Amino acid sequence: MTIIVTGGAGFIGSNFIFYSLAAHPEDRIVCLDKLTYAGNLSTLQPVMDDRRFRFVRLDICDREGVYALFEEERPDAVINFAAESHVDRSIEDPSVFLQTNVVGASVLMDACRTFGGVRYHQVSTDEVYGDLPLDRPELLFTESTPLHTSSPYSASKAGADLLTLAYFRTYGLPVTVSRCSNNYGPWHFPEKLIPLMIVNCLHDRPLPVYGQGLNVRDWLYVEDHCRAVDMILRRGRVGEVYNVGGNNEMRNIDIVRLICRELGKPESLITYVTDRKGHDLRYAIDAAKIRRELGWQPETRFEDGIKRTISWYLEHRTWWEEIISGEYRDYYDRMYGDR
Ligand code: NAD
Ligand code: TYD
Repeated sequence: MTIIVTGGAGFIGSNFIFYSLAAHPEDRIVCLDKLTYAGNLSTLQPVMDDRRFRFVRLDICDREGVYALFEEERPDAVINFAAESHVDRSIEDPSVFLQTNVVGASVLMDACRTFGGVRYHQVSTDEVYGDLPLDRPELLFTESTPLHTSSPYSASKAGADLLTLAYFRTYGLPVTVSRCSNNYGPWHFPEKLIPLMIVNCLHDRPLPVYGQGLNVRDWLYVEDHCRAVDMILRRGRVGEVYNVGGNNEMRNIDIVRLICRELGKPESLITYVTDRKGHDLRYAIDAAKIRRELGWQPETRFEDGIKRTISWYLEHRTWWEEIISGEYRDYYDRMYGDR
C-alpha cells in the first residue's frame, strides 16, 4: 500500500509514521505537511533516508498541489492527521482552524474520490462531544453521543467529522473516523499540558494551571493511538466512527504534581492562572466498540508512559530547546504574560 499521511511532521503523525514503517515493511508512506509552527522536519530525520518514505511540503488546502501529488503517487489510502490542534490558539484566532481542519479535509476527500475510491481516515478527537460533568463519573462518551462542541477547535473538528460521514453517504467514499482522547508521549509540542509542564519544570519556571486544575482528561500513550488508527484503516468498517481512549481519567493538578515529583521539583512552582474561556470540565471515552470489533485496547499504563515521556524530554533537549527559542517565545508571552 501507498499511504498518504498528512500532518506527519507533528506529534501524533510522526509517531504514526515510525509505528507504521516498523509494523508494515511492505508499505510506503508519503508524508504531506505544511510545516506550520507545530510541524518539525527534524522529527522525521530518522526516516528521511528510508526508501519507503517520502516527505512533501504542502498545504492540504492547496487543491492543485494535492491533486498533483495524488496523480504522481496514486495512493491507496489517506490518513488525515493534519490540523490546527491547540484549543488556546483557536480561541485567539479561529480562522486558520476552519481553513485547515474543515476546508483541508474536504480537499483531501475530493482528491480521494476524483482518483477513485481511495480509502480515507479522518483523525478526530473526543472534544467533538463537548464535556461531561465532574460529579457523574458513570457518564462516558460513546460514538452516538451527540456532538456538542465548546471551542472553535472542537467545532472545526466536528465540522470535518460530519463532512467525512457526508462523503460516505453522498459519494460512497470509503471513510472511517476515529475520536481519541488526550495523547501524550515523545515529540509532543510544548504548548500542550504535559510537555509544557515538563519543560517549565526543567527551567524552574512557574507551572501555569488553568482555574483550579480540577478539569479531567483521559490520557492515552500516543503509540496506543497509532495502533488504533492502523487497525481502523485496515479492518475498520467503512462509514463508521470509532472512539479511542485510555480509560485513564486524571485531574490536571494531579498530572502537574506527578511531573514535579518525577523531576524532583517543588510544588511551589505551581501557579494558578485565569481559566481558559469555555474550558471543558471532563472528557471520558467509552472505547467498547473498537475493543469488541477490532480487539484494540491500550497497552501502556499511564505510570509507565509518563516516566518514559519524561525520560524522552530529558534525552531530547535539543529538539524542544530549538522550538522554544523561536516564535514560541512570543506565543508564550501572549498566552501567559499577564494571566
Ligand atoms: P500537531 O499540532 O502536533 O501537528 C499538526 C501537524 O499538521 C503539524 O505537523 C502541522 O505542520 C501540520 N499541518 C497543520 N496545518 C496544515 C495544513 N494546512 N496542511 C498540511 N499540514 C498541516 O497535532 P497532533 O497533536 O499531532 O494532532 C494530530 C491530529 O490528531 C489532529 O487532527 C488532532 O485534532 C487529532 N487529535 C489530537 C489529540 C492530542 O491529544 N494531541 C487527541 C485526539 C485527536
Ligand atoms: P491541552 O494539553 O491544551 O489539551 P486539551 O485542551 O485539548 O485537552 O490541555 C489539557 C488540560 O490542561 C486542559 O484542561 C487545559 C489544561 N492546561 C493548563 O491547566 N495549563 C496549561 O498551560 C495548558 C496548556 C493546559
